[in-house]
Amino acid sequence: MQEQVKKKRMLSGIKPTGRLTLGNYIGAIKQFISYQDEYEMYIFIADLHALTLPIDAKELRQNTKDLISIYLACGLDPEKVVLFKQSDVHEHAELGYIMACNSYMGELSRMTQYKDKTANMSEKDSIPTGIFLYPALMAADILLYDPDYVPVGVDQKQHVELTRDLAIRFNSRYSDTFKVPEPLTSKQGAKVFSLSNPEKKMSKSESDKGTIYLLDDLNVSRKKIMSAVTDLGRDIKYDPANKPGISNLLTIASCLSGKSISTLEKECEGMGYGDFKKVVADIVCNELSSLQTKVASIQASGIIEKVLEEGAMKASYVARKKLSKVYRKVGLR
Ligand code: TYM
Repeated sequence: MQEQVKKKRMLSGIKPTGRLTLGNYIGAIKQFISYQDEYEMYIFIADLHALTLPIDAKELRQNTKDLISIYLACGLDPEKVVLFKQSDVHEHAELGYIMACNSYMGELSRMTQYKDKTANMSEKDSIPTGIFLYPALMAADILLYDPDYVPVGVDQKQHVELTRDLAIRFNSRYSDTFKVPEPLTSKQGAKVFSLSNPEKKMSKSESDKGTIYLLDDLNVSRKKIMSAVTDLGRDIKYDPANKPGISNLLTIASCLSGKSISTLEKECEGMGYGDFKKVVADIVCNELSSLQTKVASIQASGIIEKVLEEGAMKASYVARKKLSKVYRKVGLR
């Protein structure tokens, strides 16, 4: 009889803060889709993480609904992937506390995201504690499920590295408990840059002009691409050091169209920047238009609750077992 090969496991999540961007789509969601047949996958909505900076309750609910609809519209199949909401599985918060007790102030305060997010806070005394403890909760999200890989964009890699450190520390203090996971970033598109400042990451909190939102009006997105910052010269060439703006647009077009960068360079040879941007805008708007249609039909179908309920049940089963092992090791049981 042929032996069944056990699939390797992957886990990742997205925070429902603000509206989802083309950076999230290219850097994370497209990766998830490409792996769902090959790996056992756990993909979640990191809604507890959304509370680390103040957010309106109504907005959080809407963002959560949009995010699960986007996961489904992009093609994540709940038959293959465990799709769930972090707050539905209380073990995340509980292991998050244990991870916080096993982490050091020094390592948490060295996290780039923490430094960036608090750099402009003038009142250092009122930095929310949640933003500081964030990586400990993220480590818990990951370690509960013993994944082999954590697919993320470049900006989250440091948090996965810290998760590895925390897992190794816990394992050596309390004996082998957690699998030490590896971050996985895609070769292309692991950092999509802002259209208005191609030296900076495209982000939910970055200037609106530089960010394409997945559910935004297509005319608005088209205008943003047409006014994207470009570079000196007139060649359509991939050269991130000297032509960050054009290189970013080529990356976006390549990730969405499936054409290689060199094919796009050839197809766009001799074009002016305006015509090239039109090509990119068409590719982006085509993709977003079909995504938006699917999102609307998923939101009308009423399947969201059922998907989340089933996902939470499956995730809880795994998380419960791991947490009770941890509680035994540390002496709580
Ligand atoms: P978040 O919600 O900020 O981003 C979700 C994913 O999108 C990627 N990403 C990008 N990739 C390429 N270019 C960009 N401009 C860009 N912007 C965002 C991020 O790298 C990420 O992969 N802490 C996480 C959520 C989280 C998590 C986890 C992820 C919580 N627990 C456990 C993995 C495993 C976050 O805030 O991602």
